[in-house]
Amino acid sequence: MIRRVLRALRSSRAPDGASLIPMNSVNVGRFLYFHNLFKMVEDVPGDVVECGVGNGRSLIHLAHSIKLEGSRKHLFGFDSFEGFPEPAPEDQSDRNPQKGDYSVGLGAIQRRLSYFLDDKVFVRSRVTLVKGFFEDTLPGARLNAISLLHLDVDLYESYRTCLEELFDQVSPGGVVTFDEYMREAPSFPGAQKAIDEFFEGKNVRFEKDHYYGKFYAIKE
Ligand SMILES: C[S@@+](CC[C@H](N)C(=O)[O-])C[C@H]1O[C@@H](n2cnc3c(N)ncnc32)[C@H](O)[C@@H]1O
Repeated sequence: MIRRVLRALRSSRAPDGASLIPMNSVNVGRFLYFHNLFKMVEDVPGDVVECGVGNGRSLIHLAHSIKLEGSRKHLFGFDSFEGFPEPAPEDQSDRNPQKGDYSVGLGAIQRRLSYFLDDKVFVRSRVTLVKGFFEDTLPGARLNAISLLHLDVDLYESYRTCLEELFDQVSPGGVVTFDEYMREAPSFPGAQKAIDEFFEGKNVRFEKDHYYGKFYAIKE
């Protein structure tokens, strides 16, 4: 399995020059993290949804997992593709997040996906990117059940919206995974606050990943 993983992580440059996935241990660990989560939910009904596409790194990892496993799951990626909205007071930190941070256009992500997956048919038929702010796109999104929900959205209101709009669609046994949770010196304190508030009293089990140190919640 590891050889297939390493082959999948091409150590190269994306067409627009961003050095996206060099084959160092951080990126291999990140891939193993997503792949393990994917294997956990392989038999759970539902698609794979990412909110917070950013540079496309995690999206590309998730797409590789679907392809390598020959899964019928579809991959959805939601983002403004123009960076953060205005941060809330809950987000204030030394990181000083600003409107427009992480602005990467939809076209750049499409090119990166095609390049790294090296399979136009797969990308066209199995990956859907949805542009817009979550507040506008998620309420009307035509999604079926979700088996794996990856949230990497950094901000308080963004986490709140994603969880409120999507958690009900996560199947029992499905996983919600967060990029920003339980950091010792959090750059995005609003993320942790939103996650804690949302899951209070909910029937989920939190676990920590061995390869990448991130936390995820399994819906009971
Ligand atoms: C840290 S980046 C994601 C990084 C990405 N997962 C990767 O591996 O490259 C956070 C992303 O969340 C998006 N985002 C945050 N809040 C949003 C909102 N309310 N609506 C749409 N996109 C949002 C930003 O545009 C940004 O691309």
